[in-house]
Amino acid sequence: MRLLPLLLLVICSPWPLLQSADAGRTLAEAGAARRPRVRAVSLGGWLVTEGWVKPSLFDGIPNNDLLDGTQLQFKSVARNRYLAAEQGGGGAIVADREQPSGWETFKLWRINETTFNFRVFGNQFVGVDISGRVVATATTPGPSETFQLVRRDGDKTRVRIRAPNGLFLQAKTMDSVTADHSEDTNWGDDDPSVFVTNSVAHLQGEYQLCNGYGIRKARQVLRDHWRTFITESDFSFIASSGLNAVRIPVGWWIASDPRPPRPFVGGSLRALDNAFRWAEKYNLDIIVDLHAAPGSQNPYEHSATRDGSQEWGTRDESIAQTVQVIDFLASRYAESPSLLAVSLLNSPLAPGATLRSLTKYYRLGYDAVRRHTRTAYVVMPARLAADDTELLGFAGRFSRAVLDVHYYNLFSGAFDRLTADDTELLGFAGRFSRAVLDVHYYNLFSGAFDRLTADENIDFVRRNRSSDLAAVTRRNGRPLTFVGEWVAEWNVRGASERDYQRFAQVQQDVYGRATFGWAYWMLKNVNHHWSMQWMIQNGYITLDSSRSRAIISPPDGDEQMEMESAGRLKQDAVQAS
Ligand SMILES: *[C@@H]1O[C@H](CO)[C@@H](O)[C@H](O)[C@H]1NC(C)=O
Ligand SMILES: *[C@@H]1O[C@H](CO)[C@@H](O)[C@H](O)[C@H]1NC(C)=O
Repeated sequence: MRLLPLLLLVICSPWPLLQSADAGRTLAEAGAARRPRVRAVSLGGWLVTEGWVKPSLFDGIPNNDLLDGTQLQFKSVARNRYLAAEQGGGGAIVADREQPSGWETFKLWRINETTFNFRVFGNQFVGVDISGRVVATATTPGPSETFQLVRRDGDKTRVRIRAPNGLFLQAKTMDSVTADHSEDTNWGDDDPSVFVTNSVAHLQGEYQLCNGYGIRKARQVLRDHWRTFITESDFSFIASSGLNAVRIPVGWWIASDPRPPRPFVGGSLRALDNAFRWAEKYNLDIIVDLHAAPGSQNPYEHSATRDGSQEWGTRDESIAQTVQVIDFLASRYAESPSLLAVSLLNSPLAPGATLRSLTKYYRLGYDAVRRHTRTAYVVMPARLAADDTELLGFAGRFSRAVLDVHYYNLFSGAFDRLTADDTELLGFAGRFSRAVLDVHYYNLFSGAFDRLTADENIDFVRRNRSSDLAAVTRRNGRPLTFVGEWVAEWNVRGASERDYQRFAQVQQDVYGRATFGWAYWMLKNVNHHWSMQWMIQNGYITLDSSRSRAIISPPDGDEQMEMESAGRLKQDAVQAS
């Protein structure tokens, strides 16, 4: 008899606890279900550098046209032929090509402002063998792969290349490039040690900035930038404009702040901490967006690649390291009421980022977030250059998972206007879901958009984007959908302010149907239409949630999901009891 009450107590005690916890969750989730959909702006170019957003960041770098990843072609003036790595690499360097292409293009790894390694098409490095021949055989660069570029005074395109032995490269014949020319030169067209360079591409990302300035100066430049580019007053502006969230791109090195691996510099973590303080103060949500992963998940500067190589996911270590970054971020901000979501990997590019490595990583990254928070959403971005629906089934298995798609109306035409500055090409390139980047010739995209009028662009959003979005949106909200990047910029020449307003509005209307919401790319940019702040302040974008809700009747996916997940929690509680 005396046992019974005790037994009852043991049996019953977990029940009310579970029940109340369950009730609390249900309420919280019902509350979340009633929240307006995310209308966010990305704080792009803040904690992950993109040169086209604020080119002046690079102004103070000596020889800032020779940064990591710059692609050079060298024409021997004496032979009137380009240097080439035979077979793209693995053998000799010759000087017999009339037209330059991939095998004739050399990517810089910068040691300092005058000293470089040259990486060839097949990823080997140019070096000098024991007989003094110039070859491209080393898989990692060492002292015999380190060269000095000596530019002619008054003509930066005319160069000589000093080999590690102190002598200069020369194209003695078309078949023989050797490191044995003396210091003497008159820079004339008959000098086999003189080359004319073409610079065919360059990158301006975090790697280029940090390695270009060197650690000490980079730290100073970036800390100034972090302190001034985004401030508390921006959070106040964002909140008062009718937005309810910010998406903040971060780089993997933030997890080893304050002493990240070279050449990256510490301090961005403190800026992100500030962002959370301001978001809490102005009642904004934050989507932390891992924009640059170790090894780089795409070849664009915003993934902090050194030279355009994309190596993320090719080895398990890079996946494990990336999961640690997610774990770090989730753990640091799990308790913040402003942490809305963690986005696992911006714009992974197919086929380099394989579906297999990506789903493996998304599963582990999801678990890493869930170790610290049950409520944060986990954003799983679709692969660029793949079908946006390929992750639907996978992502649908996780509670509070969000599929992220990026919708731009910009293709080759945008670049017609911008070819004056090649830098911008690579900056833009990574933003297009169907982009095919040809870094050798800048033929960036299929030209689907360059002939469209304003009305046709608007129709494209209304019809084609609607159906693209419908194809990834499931009524049960598993996964939720997020148009994680869009912009009111296009290829229409001479578009009026009214055209831009209609274009911005139709995108708000259509992307407002995404069950998680949308984020504009980006808050600030020297190119006005890419700056949501400029667009709002100048009346190009009006955020009127009641209007867009009145026009669109959004699917009730997330509400349904919340109900389902509340139901599941109840079942779990019953089973546990
Ligand atoms: C650049 O590096 C090379 C090789 O380490 C060195 O000899 C040279 O003095 C350096 N130049 C500058 C400007 O730091
Ligand atoms: C938009 O979709 C229509 C069919 O619905 C198609 O004919 C058209 O080519 C698409 N537009 C673009 C620019 O892809």
